[in-house]
Amino acid sequence: MSADFDVVDLIRAKRDGCCLPAEAVAWLIDAYTHGRVADEQMSAYLMAVVWRGMSSSELDRWTAAMIDSGERLDLAGVGRPTVDKHSTGGVGDKVSLVLVPLVAACGVAVPQLSGRGLGHTGGTLDKMESIPGWRADLPVERMRRQLAEIGAVICAAGAGLAPADRKLYALRDVTGTVESIPLIASSIMSKKIAEGTSALVLDVKVGSGAFMNSLDDARELARTMVGLGTAAGVRTEAVLTGMDHPLGRTAGNALEVAEAVDTLRGGGPKDLVEITVALARVMIELAGPGRGVGTGGAPAARDPAVVLAAGDAYPVWRAMVAAQGGDPDAVLPLATHIETVPAPASGYLANLDARAVGIAAWRLGAGRARKEDSVSATAGVRWRAGIGDRVTAGEPLLELHTDDPNTLGRALAALAGAVTVTPQPPPPTPLVGDHIRA
Ligand code: URA
Repeated sequence: MSADFDVVDLIRAKRDGCCLPAEAVAWLIDAYTHGRVADEQMSAYLMAVVWRGMSSSELDRWTAAMIDSGERLDLAGVGRPTVDKHSTGGVGDKVSLVLVPLVAACGVAVPQLSGRGLGHTGGTLDKMESIPGWRADLPVERMRRQLAEIGAVICAAGAGLAPADRKLYALRDVTGTVESIPLIASSIMSKKIAEGTSALVLDVKVGSGAFMNSLDDARELARTMVGLGTAAGVRTEAVLTGMDHPLGRTAGNALEVAEAVDTLRGGGPKDLVEITVALARVMIELAGPGRGVGTGGAPAARDPAVVLAAGDAYPVWRAMVAAQGGDPDAVLPLATHIETVPAPASGYLANLDARAVGIAAWRLGAGRARKEDSVSATAGVRWRAGIGDRVTAGEPLLELHTDDPNTLGRALAALAGAVTVTPQPPPPTPLVGDHIRA
């Protein structure tokens, strides 16, 4: 770093609504990553960003500096197009587990570098780790080979990838500075750009269980991320999907793996299938000419809806799990205690609040409060009816799974008021919304 800055001046400038010059932004990220700016100083700066935002040039520079803080993977040698997907985080969101083998089964390689969950939204790696023997950590060379041979990888992002984000995200998590569009966009996109994928589809969740509760904020986040990806040469598109209700019928690590496997074998809940197929179509389209479903010219890839329903992505799942040490035939762990909660009335299930279900699953042990915490493979929530289904008063509606019965009280408290049953079916609401392109 050539220039040197006074961090207190930068905090004051941001506090007063000024935009930092490119050099100052690069210095700040580098100095924080290397311990020359203290956590409390960066916390103050981040809180100022929450209030004041960033200009688009500041955001470009901030994101570039986060990418430059570590290594950039090169996936050019994989020999097929690569497309990744990233979700902004939701409850019961096991889409990646189905989508990665599905898109690979359609001929496009998916390098999915995932994270562990924090708070009420689950993490893909935590889910996968409930499969006996499965390992998240893969050396880059192994990851490249698996991508070339099987076309599907879900693994942990190595410590060398965007280390600035690792440090910043942990700080944001404990300082109330997660909910900021420029900070979320730069955090996600720095990791995805550094990972080396040639294209990226963003699943931007909107609703009570998502970081973005309003449609306007979700659209702005999506446009911001699409802009950052496109500027960095990654073909990036975003799809807005609903997260007022949890996805599928389960939230919790092994419970979600079982549901994903059921879906890969041609079954699975309707909402999970709908979102997965919608995202798969966009990914295949983005992979390049001739890969798109039904596009002219070169032969089109098979429609992912057909591939999924036929169970043709399941062998890819098995190969992907086995390649990372997992036993695809292993019996998944099951909780020792299952408590049921009855439907409060007879009628139609009109609401099941995603955030409440996420918090209940977390309190049962499925999530972590601090990044050092371990998670339970077996804990979680299963709901026996989907939105719009008929339910009967007194019949079991929710199942709470845990190995520690002491967690039940607080999980039940989180679910107070989470269920609404109405005499008439609720109006259908579209699950898949806007498609945002550059
Ligand atoms: N996911 C991330 O990786 N970063 C954020 O800031 C929010 C969600």
